[in-house]
Amino acid sequence: MRLIIQPNADQLAQWAANYVVSKINKAKPTADKPFVLGLPTGSSPLGMYKKLIKMHKEGLVSFENVVTFNLDEYIGLDAKHPQSYHFFMWKTFFEHIDIKKENVNIPCGVAEDVDAECQAYEDKIKAAGGIDLFIGGVGSDGHIAFNEPGSSLASRTRIKTLTTKTIVANSRFFDDDVNLVPKTAITVGVGTIMESKEILLLVSGAHKARSLYHAVEGPVNQMWTVSTIQLHRKGIIVCDYDACSDLTVGTYKYFLDIEHDNLNPDSLME
Ligand code: GLP
Repeated sequence: MRLIIQPNADQLAQWAANYVVSKINKAKPTADKPFVLGLPTGSSPLGMYKKLIKMHKEGLVSFENVVTFNLDEYIGLDAKHPQSYHFFMWKTFFEHIDIKKENVNIPCGVAEDVDAECQAYEDKIKAAGGIDLFIGGVGSDGHIAFNEPGSSLASRTRIKTLTTKTIVANSRFFDDDVNLVPKTAITVGVGTIMESKEILLLVSGAHKARSLYHAVEGPVNQMWTVSTIQLHRKGIIVCDYDACSDLTVGTYKYFLDIEHDNLNPDSLME
């Protein structure tokens, strides 16, 4: 696993955006052989999306032959609901780039048969040839997508009950009213994520320090589902200084040293 330590959230976002752009461009995607991205919502990817939009406008990247799979969606919110992940993704990112509508995949939060929706989502990922680059954030309790503590590390796309901690954390998007936050969500599973060819996690801020500690230094553990990244062949975490507060000095210095030549985002551009 690689740990890329950046001074702040802005540089983290630039590093991540440049990494995504270089991966897409290197793959030279076509309509027949698109590049498949797994995409998150939340605050963690906001900076990266802004940078990607800017790079797209500057002509550095096209999303025409990119297929996306979002990680999760609240049960009960339709695509038009301002707090749905559908709405978030279109407003924040998709509306501003040249992605084709039919290449965007987000689980349907109002599906009549949720189990069938989950299976269909798994099938669609498989039919697309799997996810080339899975990008995720992490919750302060170590969850990836909505794989809350105790989620099976072999789990697939399914319905999950959200923890009180997550509901409280996400209530900031619902006028700070916990009663408005849906109690369940559809989420890709840890097993689904682990089958991606590459994983890139974005971890920013002191409130994520415990999660980063468990991801990097803790044992692989279902109570910190992010720790599964240790078992992936191509896992990268890009974090900022604030998120490193719970790492040992030795770990921190080790990754700064070993990644010394890779910390400048510009060096990643092809
Ligand atoms: C949410 C989402 C996750 C996200 C995480 C962190 O509940 N389901 O996909 O990574 O929590 O959110 P944020 O980036 O806003 O801190």
